[in-house]
Amino acid sequence: MTPATDNLCVVGLQWGDEGKGKIVDGLAERFDIVVRYQGGSNAGHTVVVNGEKFVLHLVPSGILHPDKLCVIGNGVVVDPATLIAEVADLRGRGVHVGENLAVSDRAHVVMPYHKLLDQLDDRGERKIGTTGRGIGPCYVDKMSRTGIRMGELLDPDGFREHLRANIEQKNRVLRVLYGVEPLSFDRILEEYLGYADQLRGLIRDTVALLNRAFREGKRILFEGAQGALLDVDFGTYPYISCSNASTSGAATGTGLPPRAIGRVLGIMKAYCTRVGEGPFVTELDDSIGALLRERGREYGATTGRPRRCGWFDAVAVRHSAALCGADSIALTKLDVLTGLEEIRVAVAYRLDGKILDVLPSDCRLLARCEPVYRSFPGWKSDISRCDAFDDLPHEAQAYVRALEAEVGIPIATVSVAPERSAVIQRQ
Ligand code: IMP
Repeated sequence: MTPATDNLCVVGLQWGDEGKGKIVDGLAERFDIVVRYQGGSNAGHTVVVNGEKFVLHLVPSGILHPDKLCVIGNGVVVDPATLIAEVADLRGRGVHVGENLAVSDRAHVVMPYHKLLDQLDDRGERKIGTTGRGIGPCYVDKMSRTGIRMGELLDPDGFREHLRANIEQKNRVLRVLYGVEPLSFDRILEEYLGYADQLRGLIRDTVALLNRAFREGKRILFEGAQGALLDVDFGTYPYISCSNASTSGAATGTGLPPRAIGRVLGIMKAYCTRVGEGPFVTELDDSIGALLRERGREYGATTGRPRRCGWFDAVAVRHSAALCGADSIALTKLDVLTGLEEIRVAVAYRLDGKILDVLPSDCRLLARCEPVYRSFPGWKSDISRCDAFDDLPHEAQAYVRALEAEVGIPIATVSVAPERSAVIQRQ
């Protein structure tokens, strides 16, 4: 039996977009298998290799290493059209995709009605600012026991009957609640049977496959998508994505036992961003926020939307690092802060005259919190070529140490530029 500590879970500690793709890509070399465990094509993991940029939505970032097995686990919701397009794009750019990619037969399939309902529902008072990729409605169907799973695509007769029942029900909802045209069963059936033909070779019992690999002592890297503050249970509900984006999703989203998860590496950016609606205590609606957005290229990898930017929020990250069980942290995008006179970090919140050092579970309370800031001097010199911690300007070193002290977890690596190689190892 493998000592579970050989395995590693990489998880975002903010609202996603922490730069997990680059970190997973850099770590993949040490592992045999890279597995995605939740989310869907709402995620966008950007990896830059030799100046070439790859944006991956469903395929684990490990695919850029030829000898790794990449698994899309049962906890992921799969949009077949996106997966097929992504595989074609990778192949077109010379990346091998074949027996090195497996998709769980238990993963739920994102259907056209999920995307339509996502877009129709995300409006007005209830607006979350979703990516419109059908993620929420697909997870709703999973929980309401009407979802279609990847394995079903392999059985055309069973799939046809399940789809017929679903379309009938969804069309009633679309007509009565939203007054929109019904969807065509025949068209969707034909479209998805076409996808089934193309994906047949990738769909496997990944629960058995992963457990066998675990028993054989293969090293497994769990790749989280989004971030813990978007976790359906522990994030800033209801402004969340619909999966368990924290470490806890790694067991249910792969079928491996919790002890297989091993160590946990939390990823956090040197400042904060979020996309869509929801409270954001340290948001900067000013020229500094705009500067972070431009310098950090803070535009959604999936939707292209400008991300909201703000100072680092230690209260929020203490919460996510604890619930994720982070053993160590990779800090990303430190270079984006270069040139600022002053850098701030929220170390507590003020609510109704009281000081809070924990994240309130009620979003309405969170929306009323004011940040209590600590201030740090900035640095001027370019850090993007530094490859040792001691080479960083003293102010940058002090900032990293301060984040470490505020969050209470060692920062093991610091990323200073988008390139694969631009990472400072501290331990
Ligand atoms: P959904 O996941 O499309 O349902 O969107 C729910 C919320 O999660 C919205 O605020 C999205 O902007 C956010 N979200 C979903 N995926 C990501 C991601 O990969 N990065 C950042 N935010 C995300």
